[in-house]
Amino acid sequence: MKKTQLWRLGVKDMQIFPMSRQRPPLRKPTWIIVLICMISMFLIFAYVYPPQNSSTCYLFSYRGCKAFSSWLPPLTRELTDEEIASQVVIREILNSPQVITENRKVAFMFLTPGALPFEELWDKFFQGHEGKFSVYVHASKDRPLHFSRYFINREVHSEKVDWGKISMVDAERRLLTYALKDPENQHFVLLSDSCIPLRDFDYVYEYLMYTNISFVDSFVDPGPHGNGRYSEHMLPEVEKKDFRKGAQWFTMKRKHAIIVMADFLYYAKFRDYCRPGMEHGRNCYSDEHYLPTFFYMFDPTGVANWSVTHVDWSEGKWHPKSYTAKDVTYGLMKNITSVMDSRHVTSDERKEVQIKPCMWNGDPRPCYLFARKFLPDTLNNLMLLFDNYTSISNWR
Ligand SMILES: *[C@@H]1O[C@H](CO)[C@@H](O)[C@H](O)[C@H]1NC(C)=O
Ligand SMILES: *[C@@H]1O[C@H](CO)[C@@H](O)[C@H](O)[C@H]1NC(C)=O
Ligand SMILES: *[C@@H]1O[C@H](CO)[C@@H](O)[C@H](O)[C@H]1NC(C)=O
Ligand SMILES: *[C@@H]1O[C@H](CO)[C@@H](O)[C@H](O)[C@H]1NC(C)=O
Repeated sequence: MKKTQLWRLGVKDMQIFPMSRQRPPLRKPTWIIVLICMISMFLIFAYVYPPQNSSTCYLFSYRGCKAFSSWLPPLTRELTDEEIASQVVIREILNSPQVITENRKVAFMFLTPGALPFEELWDKFFQGHEGKFSVYVHASKDRPLHFSRYFINREVHSEKVDWGKISMVDAERRLLTYALKDPENQHFVLLSDSCIPLRDFDYVYEYLMYTNISFVDSFVDPGPHGNGRYSEHMLPEVEKKDFRKGAQWFTMKRKHAIIVMADFLYYAKFRDYCRPGMEHGRNCYSDEHYLPTFFYMFDPTGVANWSVTHVDWSEGKWHPKSYTAKDVTYGLMKNITSVMDSRHVTSDERKEVQIKPCMWNGDPRPCYLFARKFLPDTLNNLMLLFDNYTSISNWR
């Protein structure tokens, strides 16, 4: 890209050059010879001193050209004041030592339109672990009626949430803000009303607390539902090569929650240029792109790149599978809790399946702690099976 621009610039200069000179220009053949000599010297020099970082560099192949341009002094653009400020703040937060509080809690943040059909199940999950967790509820439509003491008076101020719009990201940020007010919260989990726990509390607590990474989903989808949603209006701050996709259901370390709160610049780019009904009938959904892209840009090795919340897309429909009461069996729960590989499918014609083993502090572990989408009528079966399926153990 930069190279072609440079080349075009060169051509334009040559057209303008002879006319803008007062004295008669060099005669044409001399010019061409000088130019050819310069290019040849340049190529010879490049050939003799090939780029260090590329083992297979063929000068005239596409790869060679790319390596060639990376060998040139980098044509870095000057960052804006806002970008420099953002990046300084983000780096500072990421590099500052972790504040270890005596007691450490996991914040469970529920994003729901209203009711929480699985409160009873979560109650069972939380029981006996008081002091090691906190609950936050963002109810965007109706105030839910609570059945569990762990949920009473845990609502945060909430606003309307529209599917796929920035208000979804706003609600996530609001939950993080409230949860960050408690310094004992060290890990933050975003859940929906259709989410259920797949493991017992201790397993979840250890899985999240004793690792240094956040489980934020992030992958490259070259297809229409991935990079096809990118808009060049996001330039210069967000380049297409950095654009990522991922499910919104994250878990985050405290420092990552803070950099999300500290960011306004990149957030604003997604708010303005990644939304449904953009120009040319294009749709973009910030909740699927903002955090995956933001973390890829600022702390790629600090995130797992998969979500610990399972969902079944295998039916290939617009929405994932919703589990009904008759689906919920010991067999299903065993299947979901045994998955050891994360998979992403691209949305282009190739439908490339990217499979990666789920690693926890360097060892393979089952991928999932939570699952969605469960319909309310599955509650009874889940209550009956809970002790059984949470004792399925591939670890401990
Ligand atoms: C996480 O980071 C802290 C501080 O940087 C370090 O002491 C600890 O060993 C790390 N834990 C793991 C599981 O890598
Ligand atoms: C996540 O992906 C990025 C590249 O996209 C990679 O650098 C990073 O190591 C991955 N994270 C883990 C934990 O493997
Ligand atoms: C569990 O997985 C196996 C193997 O993939 C499959 O044959 C079976 O139908 C699954 N069972 C349920 C209940 O989903
Ligand atoms: C769970 O239920 C299955 C099927 O009914 C049974 O085979 C298994 O032994 C049970 N496991 C536990 C730990 O109760």
